[in-house]
Amino acid sequence: MEIRTFQPRDGPAVSGIIVRCLREVNSRDYPAEIIARMCAHFSDRRIEQLARERQMFVAAEEQAVVGTVSRDGNKVFTMFVEPTMIGRGVGRQLMHHIEGLAADEGYDHMETGASITAHEFYLRLGYADVRTSETEFGFNYILRKPLSRQRQ
Ligand SMILES: CC(C)(COP(=O)(O)OP(=O)(O)OC[C@H]1O[C@@H](n2cnc3c(N)ncnc32)[C@H](O)[C@@H]1OP(=O)(O)O)[C@@H](O)C(=O)NCCC(=O)NCCS
Repeated sequence: MEIRTFQPRDGPAVSGIIVRCLREVNSRDYPAEIIARMCAHFSDRRIEQLARERQMFVAAEEQAVVGTVSRDGNKVFTMFVEPTMIGRGVGRQLMHHIEGLAADEGYDHMETGASITAHEFYLRLGYADVRTSETEFGFNYILRKPLSRQRQ
């Protein structure tokens, strides 16, 4: 599996993964109206716009995009793995990639907003709860993980 920088042509694939995750996975933890709002938000065009504002990455296997994550400095955004690929280490590899970049830039910690659905994943990766927040996209955990300059 390769982790590479998002290219504009990845917009539909990334948007598709996010929408499938929301409908098939996150829908267990959030009401239908929030899922619908998020699906409408993460259109191809919105993804391409976000990729200009943040550093966005994709995980690709045999040319197919199977996951995505983005970061703004030490802040994590849009962490999603194709539902059929969940539980195979794609999320961990994407997180290690951006944690390494942030550590190399001198950040001493990483911060993420986690859905209820992804909370255990982040705990497993060494993140700890800082606080919770309520957004237009529902309840979220805010977690942090210390970073060391040496890549893991
Ligand atoms: C959360 C998500 C990104 C995790 O990606 P993934 O590729 O499935 O995670 P990995 O396979 O790399 O898992 C890493 C570790 O976390 C654990 N883990 C992952 N999801 C978990 C969960 N829901 N509950 C408990 N443990 C979990 C794995 O078992 C693994 O543990 P290990 O140390 O024993 O190997 C993915 O499940 C997903 O896209 N979910 C839906 C979308 C979502 O909620 N995104 C986050 C928005 S904030």
